[in-house]
Amino acid sequence: MKNEVVKALDLFIGRRSIRKFSSKPVEEVDVRTIIEAGQRAPTACNLQTYSVVWVRDKKLKEKVLDACEVSGSIREAPIVLAICADIRRLSEVLNFLKHDHCFKHGRGNWLRLMSIMDTCFFAENMVMAAEFLGLGSVYIGSALANNEVIKALKLSSGVLPLTLLCVGYPDEQPAIKPRWALNSVLHVDTY
Ligand SMILES: Cc1cc2nc3c(=O)[nH]c(=O)nc-3n(C[C@H](O)[C@H](O)[C@H](O)COP(=O)(O)O)c2cc1C
Repeated sequence: MKNEVVKALDLFIGRRSIRKFSSKPVEEVDVRTIIEAGQRAPTACNLQTYSVVWVRDKKLKEKVLDACEVSGSIREAPIVLAICADIRRLSEVLNFLKHDHCFKHGRGNWLRLMSIMDTCFFAENMVMAAEFLGLGSVYIGSALANNEVIKALKLSSGVLPLTLLCVGYPDEQPAIKPRWALNSVLHVDTY
């Protein structure tokens, strides 16, 4: 048991972004497992204000990668997931329940921020689930609120792309990147 815990922690501590992927295909069942693992992340009030678009169509994938100005080997990632903060579903449920909710009145920024947090936790759980399956990944930050991505994926109002997550079997073994010393990040009581 202890060995398994150590192995799991090693996956966290040894994680690094992967930008070169092998041509080995990723099984659909693994992609679904990754997304389900993402869904197990904590989520404010269990509202789950996120969605993910699996960009599978080849031409669409090119379009989205172009929109995000992705170059080089990352473009060969077999799996591209567009991870979105999503208050549309919540808003629709509230409409259905005939609530006079904040989004109807141009408010709800607090919920929007929560949605962004939810989505980040969702995304990072997926990153680690991929690691556990022997896959590597990299985020593409230029998808953030990218209008071309919104258009290409026909995202509805209330659905905001935050990042792409490119996933595949690693074809490189980069060293882990350094982090600030714990003492400059960790503060006790005051900062
Ligand atoms: C919000 C966000 C956006 C990122 N966007 C990109 C990107 O567009 N291209 C890229 O190669 N890496 C991207 N990364 C990966 C970071 O460059 C990487 O996490 C950082 O350099 C630390 O390296 P590591 O993940 O290997 O530890 C992004 C990471 C985050 C969290």
